[in-house]
Amino acid sequence: MDRRFLFVLGSSRTDGNTEALARRAAEQLDPSVEQTWFSLAERPLPDFEDLRHDSDHVRPTEGNLAALLDATLAATDVVIASPLYWYSVSTQVKRYLDHWSGWLRTPGVDFGATLAGRTLWGVTVLADTEASVADPLVGTLNNSAAYLGMRFGGVLLGNGSKPGDVLGDTEALARAKSFFGGGAPLARFPHETR
Ligand SMILES: Cc1cc2nc3c(=O)[nH]c(=O)nc-3n(C[C@H](O)[C@H](O)[C@H](O)COP(=O)(O)O)c2cc1C
Repeated sequence: MDRRFLFVLGSSRTDGNTEALARRAAEQLDPSVEQTWFSLAERPLPDFEDLRHDSDHVRPTEGNLAALLDATLAATDVVIASPLYWYSVSTQVKRYLDHWSGWLRTPGVDFGATLAGRTLWGVTVLADTEASVADPLVGTLNNSAAYLGMRFGGVLLGNGSKPGDVLGDTEALARAKSFFGGGAPLARFPHETR
């Protein structure tokens, strides 16, 4: 199957560290792999409204939400590039994931069946030098992939605070070179692997 990567940029600023690290990793993809980049800062999503127990969700037909739904359905690989904000994903990324709940219940979309078996990846940059503080972000992405029956390729971590800092993190840049070449097993919840 031809690979089509969707990079969802979740920083609240443009040209930040997380995008820089994601682009380093993406440089290694084969030229035959299609890349779509979607910046949530430039193309913000509306707030999610929980209609599960009132009425059917309706498929969005225009605007950023419709574009991102179509891009998500078309992707074999979804890469969530979120800075570490309060130890987890950014608000922008969280809102995107919340919309997944609506899309799972939108008649005619087949979101769950389409994403099952596809691959979720993460890229994050944090100011802290201790990588384990990003465990909540890693858990959010791993468990979301497990819920959807997706594969999970893990999270590429880098260190930095102001834009450009991550380009000085030579270990992260080295990890970026092989990140997308790594394995992506079917995601499992932690309690399933204990
Ligand atoms: C709202 C906010 C929350 C943050 N929370 C954390 C955090 O919990 N841990 C951490 O190490 N860095 C934290 N940071 C620092 C960012 O992760 C860091 O500056 C990162 O490089 C930003 O990525 P970007 O350049 O892609 O926007 C936070 C920054 C902001 C603006």
